[in-house]
Amino acid sequence: MIETTTLNTGAKLPLFGLGTWQSKDEAEFKLSLRAALDAGYRLIDTAFVYQNEAFIGEILEEYIQSGKIKREELFITTKLPFTAHSPLDVAKCVELQLKMLRLDYVDLYLIHSPTGFKHQPDSYWPIIEDGLFANDTTPHIETWRELEKLYHSGKLRALGVSNFSAKQLQALYDAAEVKPTNLQVELHIYWPQEELRTLCNKLNMTLTAYAPLGSPGRKSSRPDGDWPEGDPLLEPIVTKLAEKYHKSAAQILLRHATQKGISVIPKSTNPKRIVENISIFDFKLSPEDMEELSGGIKNHIRLFLHEYSAHHPFYPLDDVDTSKLE
Ligand code: A2P
Repeated sequence: MIETTTLNTGAKLPLFGLGTWQSKDEAEFKLSLRAALDAGYRLIDTAFVYQNEAFIGEILEEYIQSGKIKREELFITTKLPFTAHSPLDVAKCVELQLKMLRLDYVDLYLIHSPTGFKHQPDSYWPIIEDGLFANDTTPHIETWRELEKLYHSGKLRALGVSNFSAKQLQALYDAAEVKPTNLQVELHIYWPQEELRTLCNKLNMTLTAYAPLGSPGRKSSRPDGDWPEGDPLLEPIVTKLAEKYHKSAAQILLRHATQKGISVIPKSTNPKRIVENISIFDFKLSPEDMEELSGGIKNHIRLFLHEYSAHHPFYPLDDVDTSKLE
């Protein structure tokens, strides 16, 4: 049984689900999505920019129409692309996403990134000026007001944000009528996001970890191009606990986060790992082992630098702890 946490709407957010970033190969992804649904996954996390919402829609329709899964048992999260922050784009984009997902509503909808960019006249591909994406400086609250309308219409059942810093989140929270109920950020043992976790608790918000395994298969998007050092799956404390609990290193990392009440969405297109990753609700880490995983691990990896943008509302990095970027 997948454990859950509760959104401010009263809906239950599963503490475990499937991440789908970099799941673009149609045949492989559809196989893995079926494997995930068959293994009991009910939370599927996607985004416009992942370019797989149409594949997900096809499979969900198949499972719902055949009666294997009821719509209300599913929890579908998707995200507003960073090229659709303009109030003129939000409703149109959500409509397109619902159509691709073949759904009447999504369970949770997030602003994908605090930084917006302008899009091409006939698509959501960004406009490039002087080799850079052209910024769209729409204030977050203006985008949010459009999402609030879609929330009231029932098309978006809950709202949240992704990759926002504490300051950005607090500012949006203060101005919002419909309060954000979920924050999704990169989170793993090397970057436990304690400041954001404390803030989310204070604001009665839930927290979702992307890259909970440290994203072993991912290329860095850091400006310096360097792949951060370290691999949480190979961390000695993690492999030691894997032996102790007769679990895999991945299961230790995923259990650690969920035991803190954090929802995790590891991506996998490998059927064996898909089954392995969900098998984390049949054991508990001791308080001492939780403690050991939560502190004292010195490596810092940080894959994404969403705050970098010359026109960003909080430029120049006034609330980013730049020591963590080293
Ligand atoms: P694969 O899709 O081949 O299983 P994250 O969600 O932290 O970004 O991690 C995703 C990456 O971790 C993918 O490259 C995925 O590869 C790999 N992965 C997923 N589950 C496991 C696991 N149980 N053990 C090792 N690697 C895994």
